[in-house]
Amino acid sequence: MSKQTVLTGITTTGTPHLGNYVGAIRPAIAASKDANFAPFYFLADYHALIKCHEPEKVRQSSLEIAATWLALGLDTSNAVFYRQSDVPEIMELTWMLTCVTAKGLMNRSHAYKASVADNEHNGENDPDKGINMGLFSYPILMAADILMFNAHKVPVGKDQIQHIEMARDIAGRFNHIYGEHFVLPEAIIDANTATLLGLDGRKMSKSYNNTIPLFEPEKKLKKLINKIKTNSQEPGDPKDPTDCTLFSIYQAFANADEVAAVRQRYAEGIAWGEMKQLLFDYINAHVAPARERYDDLMQNPQHIEEQLQEGARKARAISAPFIKELREAVGISRIAL
Ligand code: TRP
Repeated sequence: MSKQTVLTGITTTGTPHLGNYVGAIRPAIAASKDANFAPFYFLADYHALIKCHEPEKVRQSSLEIAATWLALGLDTSNAVFYRQSDVPEIMELTWMLTCVTAKGLMNRSHAYKASVADNEHNGENDPDKGINMGLFSYPILMAADILMFNAHKVPVGKDQIQHIEMARDIAGRFNHIYGEHFVLPEAIIDANTATLLGLDGRKMSKSYNNTIPLFEPEKKLKKLINKIKTNSQEPGDPKDPTDCTLFSIYQAFANADEVAAVRQRYAEGIAWGEMKQLLFDYINAHVAPARERYDDLMQNPQHIEEQLQEGARKARAISAPFIKELREAVGISRIAL
């Protein structure tokens, strides 16, 4: 059987945190070492412009995210690792897809509808206040990312399922008009990947500003872990690990025996301070080798750039001939002489 193409993108806003690591990066890196897959992982830098109009932030985030993946051991001999903006064919495809996408489909996008709902909730006269066309048509750019490489599987979080369904719809529409060019992609939602809780006990997310950056220096990591909110139970009180942020993070890193042992310590009434120390020691030991590679890479950005250039070369070896085929298909080509 030929290899399955697995593709996913990371929007380049923000610094990778523990939640990104266990929810997305760790499983993707594991898949990059599996010879049954052809993985395509990319920095979605054009997606970043939808939400972030600060050039330095976009640049810094692209660098940090690329360094993170490489530091964690992404196998770039198997995976194609690239910047979306280095593959201009994606932008061309975005337009071709835009012209077969029903506006009504975009009206139904959750991301857009949530912004309109916010405006209505805040009593704005204009329901579209602050909404740019990038946000409105963002599922089309995402469809182009996926269809450009005919991805079979797209690992994403639950919030992105609708976008994969839209990519299927758009692919089907294009195929119906112009012939079979695209594979219909499927979302993979891994039920086993952990959702981490953040400093305040809500889901760890950059939109809640409650994250623990993955490669925070040791002292800062310690400080952040000490800031995690706990209840007011005293040392010696038996504690419940359910919905406990400290436990949720520990569980995402430790093996089953270690988790069982800590569960036992909760029943015996471990003090919160002691649990914080235990969690810090564990995570710190776990991330230390990769953190060292990360710091080295950040000092040597030319190595990161070389890797991305190499990824772009591999990606374009596919996208350039494919866009040619697609241009022909839609009737854009030189005059036949
Ligand atoms: N929109 C995705 C997110 O915010 C990132 C992304 C962009 C993506 N293009 C993609 C994910 C293509 C999967 C496939 O998480």
